[in-house]
Amino acid sequence: MDERMMSAEEQGMEDSLDQQIRPHKLQQYIGQEKVKKNLQVFMEAAKMREECLDHVLLYGPPGLGKTTLSGIIATEMGVQMRTTSGPAIERPGDLAAILTALEPGDVLFIDEIHRLNRMVEEVLYPAMEDFCLDIVIGKGPTARSVRLDLPPFTLVGATTRAGMLSAPLRDRFGVLARLEYYTESELSIIVRRTAEIFDTDIDKEAAIEIARRSRGTPRIANRLLRRVRDFAQVKGDGTITLDLAQDSLEQLQVDRLGLDHIDHKLLYGMIEKFRGGPVGLETISATIGEEPDTIEDVYEPYLLQIGFIQRTPRGRIVSPACYEHFHLEVPKQ
Ligand code: ADE
Repeated sequence: MDERMMSAEEQGMEDSLDQQIRPHKLQQYIGQEKVKKNLQVFMEAAKMREECLDHVLLYGPPGLGKTTLSGIIATEMGVQMRTTSGPAIERPGDLAAILTALEPGDVLFIDEIHRLNRMVEEVLYPAMEDFCLDIVIGKGPTARSVRLDLPPFTLVGATTRAGMLSAPLRDRFGVLARLEYYTESELSIIVRRTAEIFDTDIDKEAAIEIARRSRGTPRIANRLLRRVRDFAQVKGDGTITLDLAQDSLEQLQVDRLGLDHIDHKLLYGMIEKFRGGPVGLETISATIGEEPDTIEDVYEPYLLQIGFIQRTPRGRIVSPACYEHFHLEVPKQ
């Protein structure tokens, strides 16, 4: 089964495991050093002034720890985090209900904030800026607007697509933080930390091997660790050795660079059907049967990062490095 496609039940189980392994303090959070340093200063300053932290926009590819960081902000500021998402807030009234239920200082985490609709966004502006709600009562010529005060709060917005945020919304965030892919060494520390929480023995080299194949992404590293731990339990003596990790990852069809069978399908599709491109996103989507948004948000960013594909005005192209990885000859132009 595809690692990234799960049933609701499996997703629920993974979510509760995620909860167990998530760091709660900034000090436990590995990587994203720049973001951490800045946040530390902004939080300390807000605490000294006895104010709540300015609104924070976290953006970057999925699985890099946006939700985790938001939880850490809440813990460090000593407040509650309320969680929702752009698509879940359908009407202005939904947002009003969430905002009026906040306690002073709370963190409101809105995932996929680029998917808020325009009407909801308009309610959010005065809430972010002046901590108030403008409610229209009645209709037609007798309609009037009433201002309702809200408790001060920190909005933490998360998005994989900062470019899709409207300018007025983006401008209302005082802190913009871009999360980057993790290094192999950071990921191997995360893997060892998670293994310790799971009470599983893992060799240093095995942790590095899992890290190497995790596409710079802690969520993938932790998921691979869980699967490799299953192999260690059933096929070995419970300890994750380098050999066992390598065999398990082969079995999971995760290659040396962490590419799985969907990446392979995408890249082979471009190579075999379109001589490596240029080819448009919609065409790739139709060829491999994955949604364009999923390709753009989930699969493409890492392939772009490692230089296996490039975006050009005429479409995506497969780079020579990718042909090399698959031991294929680059086609002559
Ligand atoms: N688990 C997931 N992401 C993590 C991170 N950045 N640091 C520590 N543990 C993590």
